Amino acid sequence: MKDYKEFKSRRDRLAFLLDDSVAIIVNSKESIRNKDCHYPFRSDSNFHYLSGFPEPDTIVMIFGGKNPKSIIFCQPKDEIKEIWNGYVYGPKQASKEFLFDEGYPLADAQKLIPKFIKSKKIFLLPSSRVGHIFSPKWFEINNKLREDLSEILDGMRVVKNDFEVNLMRKSADIAANAHIQAMKLTAPDKYEYEIEGEILNQFFRLGSRNPAYSSIVASGINGCTLHYIENDSQMKDGDLLLIDAGCEVGSYASDITRTFPVNGKFSSAQKEIYQLVLSAQKAAIEKVKVGLFFDDPHKEALKIIIDGLIDLGILIGSRDEVYEKELYKKFFMHRTSHWLGLDVHDVGKYLSKSKNSQAVKFTEGNVLTIEPGCYIRPSDHVSKEFWGIGVRIEDDVLVTSAGHDVLSKNAPKEIKELEEVIGTSNA
Ligand code: GLY
Ligand code: MN
Ligand code: MN
Repeated sequence: MKDYKEFKSRRDRLAFLLDDSVAIIVNSKESIRNKDCHYPFRSDSNFHYLSGFPEPDTIVMIFGGKNPKSIIFCQPKDEIKEIWNGYVYGPKQASKEFLFDEGYPLADAQKLIPKFIKSKKIFLLPSSRVGHIFSPKWFEINNKLREDLSEILDGMRVVKNDFEVNLMRKSADIAANAHIQAMKLTAPDKYEYEIEGEILNQFFRLGSRNPAYSSIVASGINGCTLHYIENDSQMKDGDLLLIDAGCEVGSYASDITRTFPVNGKFSSAQKEIYQLVLSAQKAAIEKVKVGLFFDDPHKEALKIIIDGLIDLGILIGSRDEVYEKELYKKFFMHRTSHWLGLDVHDVGKYLSKSKNSQAVKFTEGNVLTIEPGCYIRPSDHVSKEFWGIGVRIEDDVLVTSAGHDVLSKNAPKEIKELEEVIGTSNA
């Protein structure tokens, strides 16, 4: 029951922000895998945020103004369907249990929704699947009534309350534990997918049925492909293994990357690059604080990585030259952070519209990743000992009143800690 109150309070807040308008949010459809088999269903994140209701093909309307209310349109009770596929709430039970003011069968949506709207302004999400409710002609006539809901909703979602932080903590704890088990099982000659299997096993065993994204288990040169998900190479003695894996708890994502040697011992070249990325990551985390800007951690990480790569002779030139000509992008080509929440790359503004596109400032309750990296592909200009080294270290960080809290801190990242744990399940 408690959770439903949380979802209702979000609807109440949105209703307040809507003034005299109405918002319509449509859930995702099930995706067919083939014939009558479906991909696992996951609700649209905005729909989940405002309802917690788990069935596809459902519509929620939220009315602002003097008499705020929220209503749900969902599948009717259907005994035959329930025998095959399990429980269906039906409009009556859905509205009662999920604390909506009214509930109607989905089949009535087309007839009732335009009537309910009257001449109110309508807030929709850009991705809204409303073609089956309103005809293109209806939109033509009522076009001026339509507004973008994402502006308001993204602003709500980018600040997490205690309920959400609690779920994100659990998600990060489970993922951190999965990373530790993966480290323990890693050894030369095993295949990357064996480690992926262990990660998924840990997610499931610890109560998360959904990875937040396809896990990256990338050994050797595969670690230099940012979104490598084949995970089918045999791991070699002397290679690094980069694992980027996170899960969902209550639909909230964790997103953790760790990199460590397959044989349990960093070579001196691997150590140089690893220590550099780790120093950059730690310094970037220190830049997460209320009032600092979203791009401060990236600037800090970039400065340290540029200086380090110049010292190692991997980049040639002065810091300013490397920065201005963006020479560093050959080795560090992505940003350091993104918002994290119901989506792994969560909603929320990065730039402030009102202030000449300056980066936004951190607010208490923001959650973001800090994930600098360094990826060195074979190249004539780089000493051979560094070839094939791909390192990323990624943590999930909550902005608190006192500074920050690293939600994923249980996943080891110091060289000594890693060397102590790698391969210990193979002993
Ligand atoms: N796992 C996706 C990312 O790190 O952004
Ligand atoms: Mn990430
Ligand atoms: Mn990641």
